[in-house]
Amino acid sequence: MLPFDINAPKATRQSVDREIKPIAGIGPAFKADPIGFLKRFSDAYGPIAESTLLGRRVILTTDPAIIQGVLRTQAKHFTKGREYDALRFVLGEGLLTSEGSFHRHQRKLSQGAFHHRKITELVPVMQQTTVDWINRLPAISGPFDVRSHMSDLALSILNATLLKSNQTELQQTIGNPLEYLLEDANERIGNLINLPRWVPTPHHLKVAKHRRTLDGVVDRIIAERKQSDTKQDDVLQALIDSQDEDSGERMSSEQLRFEVMTLFLAGHETTANALSWTLWLLTLNREVLSQLQQEIDTTIGQAPITADDLAQMPYLQAVFKEGLRMYPPAWAISRRAKQAVELPGLSLNKGDSLLISPLISHYREDLWDSPYQFEPRRFMDKERSHDRGTYFPFGDGPRVCIGSHFATLEGTVALATILQQFNISSEVSHIPPLPLITMRPGAEVLIKFTHRSDQKL
Ligand code: HEM
Repeated sequence: MLPFDINAPKATRQSVDREIKPIAGIGPAFKADPIGFLKRFSDAYGPIAESTLLGRRVILTTDPAIIQGVLRTQAKHFTKGREYDALRFVLGEGLLTSEGSFHRHQRKLSQGAFHHRKITELVPVMQQTTVDWINRLPAISGPFDVRSHMSDLALSILNATLLKSNQTELQQTIGNPLEYLLEDANERIGNLINLPRWVPTPHHLKVAKHRRTLDGVVDRIIAERKQSDTKQDDVLQALIDSQDEDSGERMSSEQLRFEVMTLFLAGHETTANALSWTLWLLTLNREVLSQLQQEIDTTIGQAPITADDLAQMPYLQAVFKEGLRMYPPAWAISRRAKQAVELPGLSLNKGDSLLISPLISHYREDLWDSPYQFEPRRFMDKERSHDRGTYFPFGDGPRVCIGSHFATLEGTVALATILQQFNISSEVSHIPPLPLITMRPGAEVLIKFTHRSDQKL
């Protein structure tokens, strides 16, 4: 049930040092086993684990004060890491990849579209899209792999809430290219050295073709919307309407495309993974599943879930949070120091790299009670509040996930709507995580859905 092997022999500084190479530093060990290596490195060296990567100083930290310094209080002294270059090729200069004053400007313009109240109004669409998704599920009696189905659900919810677009047409046109470009970005991030994009390999040509397809689809949607007389009530409209307070300037069509692509990429796989992991964790923890279904039954019965209901369902919220603790989809966050920076107990030089991993931090044995247990109640206990630098599945500070409220509503609405109708079970007791840009399940997540009304008969 855990993302790493806790029965493996305890890592020591000597055993970890043997994995670190003279020039490549932690590169080969990290590439071979990213999660296992980070866990061993952190276990052996503690909250500030320091080494090199291709001659550059790199620090893996799980220290809450340092994490807050890097992500929040001293965020302006850092840029994002190298892996964002690969994403920039796919996404352009959208929220996820832009830096400095341009990022601040774009973030301000986009903020209105993600206002809490506005996003909360999307709950009925999220609920209905989940019901439509349930109705599309194949009529199979045995277990099936929920990963691709969760991806389909997350994409449908994004379509319905961001773009209110023609679902099937868009899903069919963008699904494959998006997947291919993500694979490409994943691969480039994993490689220490990459061929330049301009080398016309068959793969690069295919990447370029898929990118043109995606750009074309999104450009067309934006152009149609700008020409339309009727205003939709969705995120795209809010982005189109947003205006700079001082200059009155709006986003260009190209910038709108960057932002829409970013939201699709950032909001798609992350949520699909969160739902897949959480459903699987629930199948392994029957007591939690039964308590959750009890809360669902007493609060909503068979009625469609509403935003008001969600506020009355603390256990549902806690289950989603605990799923994100044990399998945080954004498992690693990297930063590079733009200048010398002083943090509590750590002096950084210009160019030093920081690796911050919600995954490793979420299992610190000295900061969490029973971190290896799936125990949602930990998030209901006000006494045991979780420090900002200890639990951060959505990051923190000026670059915190803009979609965190969206993702939480989407995840809880989907979980409640699924478990309102189905019992779930699985015989799979171990699924290796596949840590790419997001942490995916590295094997099929075989879950059996049994209609609850069938079971009562
Ligand atoms: C469970 C689901 C999700 C998780 C775990 C997640 C996690 C994260 C994290 C950790 C970051 C910060 C990365 C960094 O600091 O380097 C981030 C940024 C971002 N996320 Fe999410 N995310 C999720 C869902 C979503 C959704 C649904 C959307 C949009 C609809 C979204 C849009 C974004 C954007 C645009 C950014 C960049 C924000 C900025 O830099 O200003 N995410 N996400």
